[in-house]
Amino acid sequence: MKHQVTPLPLMELTSGVYAFKALALATELELFTDLSGGRAGTAADFAERHGLAQRPAELLLTACTALGLLRLDSDGTYSNTPMSEEFLVRGKPYYFGGWITVVDRHEYPAYLKLADSLRGNHPTTWDVERQESLFAPDDPVVAEHFWRGMHSLSAYTAHLLAGALDFAKVDRLLDVGGGGGAFGVELCRRYPHLRVTVFDLPFVCDLTRPWVAAAGLDDRIAFTAGDFFTDRLPAGHDAVLLSNILHDWGESDVQRILKTCAVALPPGGLLLICESFVADDKQGPPLAALMSLNMLAETWGRNYTAAEYSAWLRAAGLEPDGVTPFDGPGANGVLVARKH
Ligand SMILES: C[S@@+](CC[C@H](N)C(=O)[O-])C[C@H]1O[C@@H](n2cnc3c(N)ncnc32)[C@H](O)[C@@H]1O
Repeated sequence: MKHQVTPLPLMELTSGVYAFKALALATELELFTDLSGGRAGTAADFAERHGLAQRPAELLLTACTALGLLRLDSDGTYSNTPMSEEFLVRGKPYYFGGWITVVDRHEYPAYLKLADSLRGNHPTTWDVERQESLFAPDDPVVAEHFWRGMHSLSAYTAHLLAGALDFAKVDRLLDVGGGGGAFGVELCRRYPHLRVTVFDLPFVCDLTRPWVAAAGLDDRIAFTAGDFFTDRLPAGHDAVLLSNILHDWGESDVQRILKTCAVALPPGGLLLICESFVADDKQGPPLAALMSLNMLAETWGRNYTAAEYSAWLRAAGLEPDGVTPFDGPGANGVLVARKH
């Protein structure tokens, strides 16, 4: 029989926008937080709580149920699924809602202008005429949501990194561009001997410091404010982490950052690149390829392949030792390199 192709996968892709907005709206309304700890509620309860008519309330709840975000019981009550309970309840350690908010408030409006990015080869989430980079402190939406969002995207990824690599022999880790603090917090919790220095822009250090203090780790996580394009990185660390830093920048800037990191390391020191690597044959995986497209809207960079990084690492005096893969929302693996 002749193989039939159907347009159904295209409809599923097209419906991605409906699914995302259902998730974003339910998150904004704190639906999953309200249902945390085994609580359950009907569509009428939800409608009353938010002053909604029954029809829209029920449509959103049905969509969330169909998407695996809620469970509907035979008595007409909705409750969280295990995934929503773990990742969509505000205050939980791996709360993902901060990243959903970044995509909804900051990225989603820019996607209406993605064609401008494509034609002009420039980002659209920020004003390239007025701002120096995405990380400028004067964009109120970015300042309010971006670094909380990064923490939210990175917390579970950091948990996976902590399990994928053994940090027993790392005493002092320098987290370059470590704003949001997710990696420092997670790695220090898992490895009680570890001390971390977060290096980031001054206002980002100020923003992150209270979150680290709230995690009770201000005695083990220090901050050095600076700019990795103009300042030397602090010495005295046996490993440097670059998590979702390099994909923000064009190729020559990536090579500059790698050289700066190499200078900060002692011989034998480790450089860890934690990102969603695009496969060397550039055929996927989808999350990495889409994050790379997202870098068109957000930055001058793209998600690079491990082969590209390996060549640049060698040029910076580091010997790459391959990617240890894992399935994180913020990264699909870590590329480890050792300084000669
Ligand atoms: C995409 S975020 C990654 C944050 C964190 N590493 C993570 O994975 O959760 C990029 C980080 O680089 C920082 N950054 C951008 N430009 C910088 C610069 N010139 N010097 C130091 N940090 C910078 C930003 O403030 C931000 O915290």
